[in-house]
Amino acid sequence: MTAKMASKRILLGLTGGIAAYKSAQLARLLVKSGYDVRVAMTESACRFITPVTLQALSGQTAWTDLWDARIPDNMGHIELSRDRELIVVAPASANFMAKVVHGLADDLLTTLCLARDCPLMVAPAMNRQMWDNPATQRNAAQLRKDGVLFAGPDSGDQACGETGMGRMLEPEEIFEEIEAFFQPKVLAGRRVLVTAGPTVEPIDPVRGITNSSSGKMGYAIARAARQAGAQVTLVSGPTALATPAGVARIDVQSAQQMFDAVKKAVPAADIFIAVAAVADYRVASQAKQKIKKGDRKAGMTLELVENPDILGYVAKLPKPPFCVGFAAETEKLAAHAMEKRAKKGIPLLAANLAQHALGADDNEITLFDAKGEHLLGRGSKIDQARKLVAHVAAMLPRGKR
Ligand code: C5P
Repeated sequence: MTAKMASKRILLGLTGGIAAYKSAQLARLLVKSGYDVRVAMTESACRFITPVTLQALSGQTAWTDLWDARIPDNMGHIELSRDRELIVVAPASANFMAKVVHGLADDLLTTLCLARDCPLMVAPAMNRQMWDNPATQRNAAQLRKDGVLFAGPDSGDQACGETGMGRMLEPEEIFEEIEAFFQPKVLAGRRVLVTAGPTVEPIDPVRGITNSSSGKMGYAIARAARQAGAQVTLVSGPTALATPAGVARIDVQSAQQMFDAVKKAVPAADIFIAVAAVADYRVASQAKQKIKKGDRKAGMTLELVENPDILGYVAKLPKPPFCVGFAAETEKLAAHAMEKRAKKGIPLLAANLAQHALGADDNEITLFDAKGEHLLGRGSKIDQARKLVAHVAAMLPRGKR
């Protein structure tokens, strides 16, 4: 665990709701990522999940009682949140939200919230009628006005058997909001367009030419940019990945479709990061019907024509956004990367060795700009993406929107 990670100190509060079982997973995700997680539970939360579970997962005492004799000076209501950087209440019940709105402090968790010196994030979880009730809506609006951060709720199937708004976000989604909270907002107010994944160049309606790009690096960059405060659009070839929270995704198949989507979105972008592994060639004439095995007895030859260079096009626009290119090489990384940066006429190029990057969860990127090369070291794709985003932010002209 790094010193920086250990500094992410959270108080995780649980109130009474069936979604409390999901908070065990949230605690696990946080601890695994190096967060210091202190847990406080209301009496009703303990009816749904035991403090022992949260204690085992957080590796710390799960606090439940304002009058706990183990707190030496009986100042638990102040001390337990004093050194925290964020309080996250998940699930947050309608009752809890109402109490916070009015500054009530009749148990440990509400007292900690009232006496806090750090931001509060709530992940509401309740039956759809409780959420839609004007009282809850008034309370949610007031909490927002008071600067309380919201993670959800979502709509969908509820434990009570009904369907509607009020479902707690999944633990991974709440974790994402917490991660975003801790990232410096170096791209606040910027609009970022990212391409990611492979393209599929159709041969006939059921076959195509593609490559082994997983999309992981591009998705990590979209996620990091959004966590850094940017408004992010992701133009993606076919991948098996979930859309990063808060990112607008446009799905495409072929290079031509990716080009069309980028042309449409690029006027509203300040930064363009081309991570997609775009096929350089497409099949000249796509068969309208599935090609049958015996159709071409003398063997089969595909005529290929060149695809548009999407990054090349964007970089040559009269007023281009800040352009970042990617280069996956198999050898002579620096030489090829510098040549590519110059050829494309872009300020920044991120290069990696294809054999280290394709499909992997880790990567080792080297950045090339006018000042030379910058090694990002080896790390997870999200760590590399955050470093890349920080580098981009530092290169942007100040005040440019
Ligand atoms: O050398 P190459 O043109 O493949 O450079 C790779 C970079 O250019 C990547 O950033 C890739 O996303 C982008 N690219 C593109 N359109 C293409 C080919 C590559 O945007 N048709």
